Amino acid sequence: MPAWMPPGSGVDKENGGRVAGLDVERIRTDFPILDREVHGKPLVYFDTAASAQRPLAVIEAIDDFYRRYNANIHRGVHTLSQEATDAYEAARAKVAGFLNADSAGEVVFTRGTTEAINLVAQSFLRPTIGPGDEILITHMEHHANIVPWQMLCEQTGAELRVAPINERGELELSALKAMLSERVKLIGIVHVSNALGTINPVAEVCSAARAFGIPVLVDGAQATPHQAVDVQALGCAFYCFSGHKMYGPTGIGGLWARRETLQAMPPYQGGGEMISVVSFEGTTYNDPPGRFEAGTPHIAGAIGLGAAVDYLRSLGMDRVAAAEAELLAYATRAMSEIDGLRIVGTAAHKAGVISFVLDDIHPNDIGTLIDHYGIAIRTGHHCAMPAVKYFGLPATARVSFGIYNKPAEVDQLVDALRRIKDMFA
Ligand code: ALA
Repeated sequence: MPAWMPPGSGVDKENGGRVAGLDVERIRTDFPILDREVHGKPLVYFDTAASAQRPLAVIEAIDDFYRRYNANIHRGVHTLSQEATDAYEAARAKVAGFLNADSAGEVVFTRGTTEAINLVAQSFLRPTIGPGDEILITHMEHHANIVPWQMLCEQTGAELRVAPINERGELELSALKAMLSERVKLIGIVHVSNALGTINPVAEVCSAARAFGIPVLVDGAQATPHQAVDVQALGCAFYCFSGHKMYGPTGIGGLWARRETLQAMPPYQGGGEMISVVSFEGTTYNDPPGRFEAGTPHIAGAIGLGAAVDYLRSLGMDRVAAAEAELLAYATRAMSEIDGLRIVGTAAHKAGVISFVLDDIHPNDIGTLIDHYGIAIRTGHHCAMPAVKYFGLPATARVSFGIYNKPAEVDQLVDALRRIKDMFA
């Protein structure tokens, strides 16, 4: 067994699919989509990193909003508008609690992680950055944490620098530290890599950055569904997340930053809600978070995200993390026993993501063929082309786990991969 492989496995296939204290069989009953079949086989959903499935609690919260109190928020004195406003703001408070923010006002709702990063790039950094300044990211970033900075560099003449990774897909922390200087105006780093599964030492990066007064933006899209996140303990300036990765709706997510940080930032988009007073002579702006939520927001989405947060908290994020670690260990072992299967991304600290290649079978062929066994996986570059290219590959196949996955499904995956391998033999 390779040294990097996670130790132990607490999976107990005889005991109702209980994994490290999480009652997976019971959790599965909360996800109606898991009852469906694909190509005549029960669905095995291993694409949670792309988008998680939604529990009934989320589906019903959205349904309840549209059926009983659908109205615009912050704009009406009538009962429905007040109920909708209360639910929207309650969702903000739930998210704030989930991230251990100091107050609900530190959470800005956005369309997701991508919009949150663009907001920081254009509102926080653009007014103060110029030629001679640097933005530092890592080689394993998702395109959402690369392209907004490239665009900003084109707009301002600043330079984008990239901290290296190693052959296990881990950040070279000492190299990143050596790149720190007063020229660096922001570090953008992914908390958990969607392509490799690596969990980055974000708190350590923040602590090193603090010595130079550098703010750190964390792309938390793949972290919030899998582990407890405490933005205060991490010591970052910005934390970005997406609802649909954490069992909530698409089109909603957010940005966390301290109140003073948000207060000092100019508006990102103009429109309704972000203003205080508008006249043709000039406009004054609302306080955060409203300043950054121009236009009618995704009200149902925020309410659904609040329900997702309640659901995750009811399970306990430490139990969720432990169960996924056990399943990752189980799957890593089982998949490593397939001849010709190479796991891409073997960091010592990993979340429930296994990227792999099998012989010289094209990952897209693996994805298409395995779908006929009812198994959904993602194939391609995973919106992280530089990370995948680092391993000399144009694409990988990727299995990613959620709270509803169980060891028996891993067994089905391994069996299907062996059959696909035989087809190409
Ligand atoms: N970034 C998403 C993924 O990892 C879409 O699949």
